[in-house]
Amino acid sequence: MRTGKPVISNHLENEERFRTPDLLAAHGVRRAINVILQGEGAPYGVLEVDSRSAGEFSERDIAFLQGAANILGMAIERQRQEQALNMALEHQQVLLQEINHRVKNSLQLVAGMLRLQAGDDPHLGQRLQEASSRIMAIGRAHDRLYRSPQVQRIEMSGYLSDICEDLKQVTPNCDILFDASAQVFVNTDRAINLALVVTELVTNAARHAYPNGTRGPIRVRLGRVDGNVARISVRDEGLGLGPDFEVTKGHGFGMRLVKALAQQTHGQFRIERHPRGTEFILDIPINA
Ligand SMILES: Nc1ncnc2c1ncn2[C@@H]1O[C@H](COP(=O)(O)OP(=O)(O)OP(=O)(O)O)[C@@H](O)[C@H]1O
Ligand SMILES: [Mg+2]
Repeated sequence: MRTGKPVISNHLENEERFRTPDLLAAHGVRRAINVILQGEGAPYGVLEVDSRSAGEFSERDIAFLQGAANILGMAIERQRQEQALNMALEHQQVLLQEINHRVKNSLQLVAGMLRLQAGDDPHLGQRLQEASSRIMAIGRAHDRLYRSPQVQRIEMSGYLSDICEDLKQVTPNCDILFDASAQVFVNTDRAINLALVVTELVTNAARHAYPNGTRGPIRVRLGRVDGNVARISVRDEGLGLGPDFEVTKGHGFGMRLVKALAQQTHGQFRIERHPRGTEFILDIPINA
């Protein structure tokens, strides 16, 4: 290690350049050959071959052993790099989760501020309340991402369940009943779009199906139509849509948002009028 050069000692019992370890003497080792185990910068150590037999190690033995040591050195180097890479990856994962946690907290803060401001004016208040719900729905996505090991996809039943819980706070006149009959994983962008659709439909039901604080249920369901299509529906048992309502016509910000988001998720959106109330149904392909 000190000289950086290979060492042959063919007569350990007479060796004067270094001390022969007792272990070797105890096992009757008579000769030894050492080569450097080279790392990226400094050497890792030495590779040594010992022999009890008489005879001589030669320059050719050095060449052979150095070849083996070089392969070993490369293997060790690779293993170290792999370890370093894995550590970096883990660190990255932690950072990403931390960021999602922060984003969620920031969005929660923004939503909270809007809700506080909502107190001043009843009409504006309603608007701010709805804006706050939309922001909360996005915040919940980051909350999910923060808790999950995967960041590309979100599981919808857990996510929508969180959102329904949040919406209960702002729709005290309604019983929001969430029911999921399947787990549905979709990529994060689509998941957020779907969450916004549900937010919009639930706030609409609370406001239009049950006006002036009248009470009633809002059922939010998630299930599968078949292996490739998932269904999200929001159903109320309230007043029902006016006779002149048409899905394709203009309407307010809510329905326009729902239609745009449904389109972005490649979903099929339709409305069913029931004897009591309305059902909004979105079918989405889940392998797209
Ligand atoms: N669940 C429902 N029951 C009865 N009527 C509804 C329901 N959802 C929507 N509507 C009717 O459809 C109209 C359009 O809804 P949309 O969400 O686009 O607008 P908005 O709720 O009036 O306003 P915005 O969403 O822009 O705040 C509503 O004004 C209401 O008349
Ligand atoms: Mg609306």
